[in-house]
Amino acid sequence: MINRNEPTTPPTASTRRSFLQMTGLTAGIVGISTPTAIANDETTTTTMTYELPPLPYEYDALEPTIDAKIMRLHHDKHHQGYVDGANAALESLAEMRQSGNFDDVKAVKRDLSFNLSGHVNHSVFWKSMSPDGGGKPNGELADAIDEHFGSFEGFKEDFSAAAKNVEGSGWGMLVFDHISNEPMVIQAENHNDIAVQGSTPLLVLDVWEHAYYLQYENKRGDYVDNFWSVVDWDSVAKRYETARNANVFDDC
Ligand SMILES: [Fe+2]
Repeated sequence: MINRNEPTTPPTASTRRSFLQMTGLTAGIVGISTPTAIANDETTTTTMTYELPPLPYEYDALEPTIDAKIMRLHHDKHHQGYVDGANAALESLAEMRQSGNFDDVKAVKRDLSFNLSGHVNHSVFWKSMSPDGGGKPNGELADAIDEHFGSFEGFKEDFSAAAKNVEGSGWGMLVFDHISNEPMVIQAENHNDIAVQGSTPLLVLDVWEHAYYLQYENKRGDYVDNFWSVVDWDSVAKRYETARNANVFDDC
């Protein structure tokens, strides 16, 4: 579950409604609770906030693939930074609506996209791995991978090449494309650039240097190759099953 705090009520008076309409696919399928319209009256307004989810295992649980120092910094500092950044952007947008001054809207919307995408990606990343991971997928996910990529090895080659060759900081991602109803391997630069709109992340690999450099130095390829030994295929399959049954673009 990608955490989001329940709405809180700040002391400022306003008659404006404040709500965030998450891009629905990711919100519902990956586990972000879709924000609902927030009640307000003549004296209150409300603000949504996101929250850092707990790491689903101990910091050293993925050793030797990823060491504890990286995991602690990555989760507690970097992911927290994206959560804070997303919340700050939401607060700025609420203030804009309150004041009617949208002079900074472009920069703040950019901040929201970057930081909220960082929150989503990292939340899925932690769940993409397990100390009991590795091996291959089973069942319908395995069938879909075979059908779309030719074989599991073909998929691994595609995903690994995507992750190793991200320009600068970014992600290798297996997503579910709701238009074709098929899995697809994509890259994301930073957290959100060149990603595919309306797709759901199923398996993601962070290739920002903060994810591996303290252990692997400049050997991103070794980090990507070792990642396969900790992939939690049960978790990936769960997201795949939810995504493929969502039928979100049936009316499009
Ligand atoms: Fe990261």
